[in-house]
Amino acid sequence: MSNRSIAERREASVTRAAASVHPISPVKGLGSYVWDADGTRYLDWTVGIAVMNIGHSHPRVVDAVQRQVAEFQHLCFAVGMHESYVAVAERLAAIAPGPSPKRAFLVNSGAEAVENTVKIARVATGRQGIVAFTHAFHGRTHMALSLTGKADPYKAGFAPRAAEVYRAAYPYVYRNPYGLHGDDAADAYLAQLQDLVKTTIGESEVAAFLLEPVAGEGGFIPAPERFLRGLRAYADRIGALWIDDEVQSGMGRTGRWWAVDHYDLEPDLVATAKALASGFPLGAVVGRESVMNALEPAMLGSTFGGNPTACAAALATMDVIEDEGLLTRAQTIGAVLRERFESLQARTPRLGDVRGLGAMIGLEFVAEDGHSPDPVIVQRIVEDCRERGLLILPTGTYGNVIRLLPPIRMSDAELTEGMTTLEAAIAAALREAPVPA
Ligand SMILES: Cc1ncc(COP(=O)(O)O)c(C=O)c1O
Repeated sequence: MSNRSIAERREASVTRAAASVHPISPVKGLGSYVWDADGTRYLDWTVGIAVMNIGHSHPRVVDAVQRQVAEFQHLCFAVGMHESYVAVAERLAAIAPGPSPKRAFLVNSGAEAVENTVKIARVATGRQGIVAFTHAFHGRTHMALSLTGKADPYKAGFAPRAAEVYRAAYPYVYRNPYGLHGDDAADAYLAQLQDLVKTTIGESEVAAFLLEPVAGEGGFIPAPERFLRGLRAYADRIGALWIDDEVQSGMGRTGRWWAVDHYDLEPDLVATAKALASGFPLGAVVGRESVMNALEPAMLGSTFGGNPTACAAALATMDVIEDEGLLTRAQTIGAVLRERFESLQARTPRLGDVRGLGAMIGLEFVAEDGHSPDPVIVQRIVEDCRERGLLILPTGTYGNVIRLLPPIRMSDAELTEGMTTLEAAIAAALREAPVPA
């Protein structure tokens, strides 16, 4: 078995619609590293797109999963209430943002979690309108892709899309069209949102605002605290809910359990998945008890959702994050990355913006004009990093952002290794960049 032989079989068997960024076939993962079928080792700063936050094959997760599989695989929560489902719901309720009592519902993926937040919000409010944002990514199922902002490759061709979805501008301060900074930019985005609701939707028609506190696929764009506070207040004022999509930013990635914890804000509903169960399919909706219990029994359900193995993995993952102090570690890793790449930015005009929250850092690259997105240089850096033994991913509506999703459990030596490799790849890509005429 080699990368090449697997790629050939894939060509003949897998739809070309399912693409892979890196032409490698991973066969083993341990801690911060993965190995491909050719035996090459990579430092993994993709962690499966924010899934293996605590690193690959953590012994406590492996042990919990093996024990669970051997003992009991599946009966379905709709048939009988296995304890690990209840335990995950208890843990999620305990760590969910904000002080009010919470309830949880378990599913299989981020998209499914988002879909269910919409169902819950509509029943709880008796309204239909969902306000999503530009630069959003909420998944690929039909409702989720309708809520997603980016046309190509997520939405184009999949019309008709779901009704009663409205789109407001995400507070992408670096590219704000008002030429404003800081609070003024946040206020301008809020004013535009309120104007859209008043003039286009109607304040009494909005069931919920759905927002990623750090837009992931959109380019690792943190929403300013002032905008989030304003959104919370506005939703309260018009009787709408705030759905917080923490599928990518949650479970400790930003140095707190949830990105909104940085601002002590309480959304009505939170969608989580990805890192929740360290690679086992598990998603969840956790929200205010009054909202979650607005539905009648059996209005929500899922055959596999909250299956015992995924729940065992989730419980072990949460234990590891708590027992090993990984929220603090994520903050430290984020601060080190921030400092290193801000200092690179000061001497590199093509590195237009360094931003993020905790260990969720984006590097936005621009063309010679200092503003236009430059996806080509990002592609070069991503490929060169792989050649040098570091896996990273591009992101962003314009494809011109490098997203750093390092394991939040990695050592200082691994952190230095990754930063040194990335800096070398950036320097090489800039040397190759076409010289302006
Ligand atoms: C913010 C956000 N929401 C939802 C999703 C969809 O999750 P899944 O791929 O598990 O359906 C993703 C996936 O990248 C995401 O980043």
